[in-house]
Amino acid sequence: MSGINYTDKIPNNVNLAGDRTLQRALEHWQPNYLQWWQDMGPDGSHGFDVYLRTAVSVQPDGWAHFDHVKMPDYRWGIFLAPQDGQRKIHFGENMGRDAWQDVPGEHRANLRRIIVTQGDTEPASIEQQRHLGLTAPSQYDLRNLFQINVEEGRHLWAMVYLLHRYFGRDGREEADALLQRSSGDADNPRILGAFNEKTPDWLAFYMFTYFTDRDGKFQLCALAESGFDPLARTTKFMLTEEAHHMFVGESG
Ligand SMILES: [Fe+2]
Ligand SMILES: [Fe+2]
Repeated sequence: MSGINYTDKIPNNVNLAGDRTLQRALEHWQPNYLQWWQDMGPDGSHGFDVYLRTAVSVQPDGWAHFDHVKMPDYRWGIFLAPQDGQRKIHFGENMGRDAWQDVPGEHRANLRRIIVTQGDTEPASIEQQRHLGLTAPSQYDLRNLFQINVEEGRHLWAMVYLLHRYFGRDGREEADALLQRSSGDADNPRILGAFNEKTPDWLAFYMFTYFTDRDGKFQLCALAESGFDPLARTTKFMLTEEAHHMFVGESG
């Protein structure tokens, strides 16, 4: 399993155990996430074993593990693609300089906004799709839906890790707010319009995975080029999971 310890509360390849403050903050966020999953995640799905893919490493030859798991027991982990010490910024005023390993002060607000906006779409899509399990055309479709849902949940974790690790107190507040907004809510909606629309049926879901996830892929491809290296490495690995989401749209 490439050094990922699944007995950890939060499986990770970012040496969480080496940063107790960060670990504690994330372990504090975790029960709130699980409560959100309980309240807003896939409707009526809690008691059943589902055959699911779980990310266990970032190695191309063995990054996933398949097994039956009850979805609330899914191990949402934090995985970044390995650091390439030579990575440079490829564009803009800072082109040619070393990629940033920490958030540069002058770009802090914009980077936080980008990460929050990306992070907000992940739980939003789970909320949009939460009733679809009740009308799945087949067990195959149901499994694909749940696979996508747990992975969007992991993408939320990916963004929350960045907020906690690199943005201090306001990052932690933003991470909390990601569990407070909700799709279509009149008072506290998700950030982007598309994520407040209803996904009332499976045709809408296939359209979502065909078009919206494709848009998401281009968005992630752009973030994977970010001059802020931890964001680039996080999104690079998210793209590995995203391929299956578009496959569901295409084949559906
Ligand atoms: Fe995602
Ligand atoms: Fe996706």
